[in-house]
Amino acid sequence: MDSRRLGFVLGVVLGLCPSVAMQADGSEDEKPLYKDATAPVERRVDDLLRRMTLEEKVMQVNQYSLGRNNNENNAGAVARVPAEIGSVIYYDQDPALRNDFQRKAVEQTRLGIPVLFGHDVIHGFRTITPIPLAQSCSWNPELVTQVCAQSALEASRAGVDWTFSPMIDVAHDPRWGRVAEGYGEDPYATGVYAAAAVRGYQGDTLSAEGSLAACLKHFVGYGASEAGRDYVYTEISRPTMWNLYLPPYEAGVRAGAATLMSSFNDVSGTPSSASHFLMTEVLKERWGHRGFVVSDWDAVRQLINQGVAADGREAALKAFNAGLDMDMMDDLYQRHLPDLVNKGLVPMERLDDAVRRVLRIKFEMGLFENPYTKEMKREKRILQPEGLRLAEQMAEQSIVLLKNENAVLPLERASTIALIGPLAKDTENLLGSWFAYGEAKDVCPIDRALSQEFEGRADILYAQGCGMEGDDRSGFAEAVGVARRADVVVLCLGEKRRWSGENAVWGSISLPEIQEDLLAEVKKAGKPVVLVLSNGRPLDLSRMEPLADAIVEIWQPGVVGGKPLAGVLSGRVNPSGRLSVTFPRSVAQIPIYYNRRPAARKGTQGRYLDMSSEPLYEFGAGLSFTTYDYGEISLPKETLRKGEEMTVEVRVSNSGPRDGMETVMWFVSDPVATLSRPVKELKHFEKKLIKAGEEAVYRFTVNPQRDLSYRDAEGNLVLEAGDYYLQVKDKRVKFTLID
Ligand code: BGC
Repeated sequence: MDSRRLGFVLGVVLGLCPSVAMQADGSEDEKPLYKDATAPVERRVDDLLRRMTLEEKVMQVNQYSLGRNNNENNAGAVARVPAEIGSVIYYDQDPALRNDFQRKAVEQTRLGIPVLFGHDVIHGFRTITPIPLAQSCSWNPELVTQVCAQSALEASRAGVDWTFSPMIDVAHDPRWGRVAEGYGEDPYATGVYAAAAVRGYQGDTLSAEGSLAACLKHFVGYGASEAGRDYVYTEISRPTMWNLYLPPYEAGVRAGAATLMSSFNDVSGTPSSASHFLMTEVLKERWGHRGFVVSDWDAVRQLINQGVAADGREAALKAFNAGLDMDMMDDLYQRHLPDLVNKGLVPMERLDDAVRRVLRIKFEMGLFENPYTKEMKREKRILQPEGLRLAEQMAEQSIVLLKNENAVLPLERASTIALIGPLAKDTENLLGSWFAYGEAKDVCPIDRALSQEFEGRADILYAQGCGMEGDDRSGFAEAVGVARRADVVVLCLGEKRRWSGENAVWGSISLPEIQEDLLAEVKKAGKPVVLVLSNGRPLDLSRMEPLADAIVEIWQPGVVGGKPLAGVLSGRVNPSGRLSVTFPRSVAQIPIYYNRRPAARKGTQGRYLDMSSEPLYEFGAGLSFTTYDYGEISLPKETLRKGEEMTVEVRVSNSGPRDGMETVMWFVSDPVATLSRPVKELKHFEKKLIKAGEEAVYRFTVNPQRDLSYRDAEGNLVLEAGDYYLQVKDKRVKFTLID
């Protein structure tokens, strides 16, 4: 018997559960069907719904916060939370507060409907894993699933039922700090990761012990926020909506995501949180989603700020009728829905539909049977070995080696290493944004990891050099001195954890001048410099790149901190990460992304006159300590019918000295279409281990409907006969699609 069920049985034995349930019309029922765990969910929902009063229904579509809110972007909590509430954002690491509150809901309210406890478990709960942007550079969705499953287990043992994750907003602007929370610039890859995360959080069934309900966010287009600013408007045409922003959501919905969160942004004049088209026509009617949509924090009230509602009442009316089922935090549904329903402005069927969706998830999660969380000792449920092992594996695979001139890495011959920089001993910033209950003391700093890794092999000298920001250059001389005494410099620079994430917008994506200057100064020592970067967004490295002999992007790795980096530096880990997002040369190039449409003039025309038009590092960039040789793409036939499939393959041999994991990315291009298509689009990827001296065959089964089509402005799938190209690295083959 699992813990939640145990709690329920105990409650019954102690006589705490009401044995009768009153119907809305006042009559009583000995054994309400909705309490019968053997009855089908839909019948239980119907039964409960018909017993509910208008006020009880309205309470189910509200969410407040419970406990101390540690999110600095969101202030203000509701002082007294009524036990009839549909959901709370749960701010505690221990289940006691949950269980107390749940007891009130289950045992002291008329119908005993359990509360759903949500929390932002974005990249771990206490065991903080690499940020999602880093995870996407692993190109290992299976590992994403495993990491999310571990996060779910840890969070659920603390009393959480529902995570506001994954964040699957395709983003083309690194000034937008929330690029850290997503999976990069590609809609296909983001969709694959969305499904992987949903599978990890939710497991096989929502009711399984240790699973969380997932929430795809932010629906939709938030990543297109103009000029990278947070909370602002977006301008998204319907074809772009259908082909770029919606596909990851469709993938997440198909994977069974229980919920979605509406986004803050307006889309071409209609805020997502008031968009009937997005929430009702696309999500519920077209995709058949049966879970519910929660607003983002205060997003219903913000419809007033966004200029589409005069007051709270109108905001509630617009959001609710558009299909936004649950109101996070702004209390407007609770205040206004009863009257709006009574006046006939909100149809009762709409309210019933929203309540039905919320109840459905609660029944599917087994909350009616198992409302409580077993109270295990904290040390038995946090920072567990399996979670740490997976976090480390993920961090190893998400590191991207961006540059390695003269094979300076791995550091096999160095006997003295100068470890320099403000992040060399740091613990806090390596956690990244949205670190939930992560603690700096859990993080293994880079200096400790290096000392352990190189023990008996190399001496480590240390100098901080400078702080993360500011003007204090007094440590530069010591840093240069240390560099002179060493064979190689490992310089650890980057961003503070709050420099990315929500409400962390930058007009410049360079590192602070003091950090750039430290690199320039240290370089004067004449030793090879390995630049280690920890950051939550693509950076402008244009001034730093020429000075670094090697560049290792470790992102924000979470609790495992410097260990995976130490493995890369020593050669124990062969880097296998590849960028899921483009690194521009400068802010002036933004937006810049690989899946752009072709221009009217080719060659040198239309290019910047004063700078390069090419990015510094492209989508997919990433080096290894070994060499991979790609064969030609083998095509079984040159003509394919629309209804057929074909499997293409490419052989990759590892001709270098080390085992390595290589990701093959398959791109498709459609050079002539009714609607101009991107120059290339990722359609499949696979990562495999190839031992030194061996080869592997990578395959891609092309399904024309799925892989060669696009959507028109109405969202119809368009599949056109004609020539197509398949591309892997620099290999390209043409084939023809016929009717
Ligand atoms: C963020 C969401 C988050 C919510 C609850 C909002 O400010 O945009 O991503 O889930 O707060 O913390």
